[in-house]
Amino acid sequence: MGKVSVIDVREKKGREKIVTITAYDYSMARLFDPYADIVLVGDSVGMVFGGLPHTLAVTLDDMIYHARAVARGLSHAHLVVDLPFMTYQVSPRQALRNAGRLLSEGGAESVKLEGGVAMAETVRLLVSAGIPVMGHIGLTPQSVHAMGGFRVQGKTEAARHALVQDAMALEDAGAYAVVLEGIPAALAQTITAEVKIPTIGIGAGRHCDGQVLVSTDLLGLNLDFQPKFVKRYAHLENAVREAVQQYALEVREGTFPDESHSF
Ligand code: KIV
Repeated sequence: MGKVSVIDVREKKGREKIVTITAYDYSMARLFDPYADIVLVGDSVGMVFGGLPHTLAVTLDDMIYHARAVARGLSHAHLVVDLPFMTYQVSPRQALRNAGRLLSEGGAESVKLEGGVAMAETVRLLVSAGIPVMGHIGLTPQSVHAMGGFRVQGKTEAARHALVQDAMALEDAGAYAVVLEGIPAALAQTITAEVKIPTIGIGAGRHCDGQVLVSTDLLGLNLDFQPKFVKRYAHLENAVREAVQQYALEVREGTFPDESHSF
């Protein structure tokens, strides 16, 4: 099993679903690697690891630190890393410099950024410099304040039309895939049919070319939040509580460490 490239990802459209999962550290990356096509170091790291209410305070250095750790754990899955808030919106040149750092310092194989038509020029520049780009449209968490919260997008005819235009602009600019987040399933189906690049859905129904979930959500480690689109495939919260409770009990009663755990 070689490393999944952006060309492999593109070729999966219409043939097989693309499995994507977020990771933020080496150990989890190693566990996810055999099963995923793409591992995303998302700026959701700020929320799930940092306890922040949104992703806006995540820095490029944060992303590089986590990307490096995840890169060391992957021998199969493609590694895409988020450009965090205000590291690419200022100008295409700023985006180029910072995307370059994600590849050269973070070990990313492609970068993800939020926005459609407005980001097309930036995407074109990155792609022309040899940096593959994944787009991200719909519910774009870096625009949380402009959206008035984390809300499902594409609810009006005008908004639906704009999202189709966004996807087409990303394709035209050379993006190799696009995340569709928090939009009605029917709209995601339309966009998926409209563009030749793969769509990766999260809260966008079953018709996308692939799916992505935040790993702590699917593992049942997110204590605060369970949106409708998340399916918990495990309940690790309970397993962790039980393990730590048992450890604390054994330390307090003096049964750990016993002979078999001593030198
Ligand atoms: O930051 C992230 O984890 C993401 C996914 C939710 C798509 O962008």
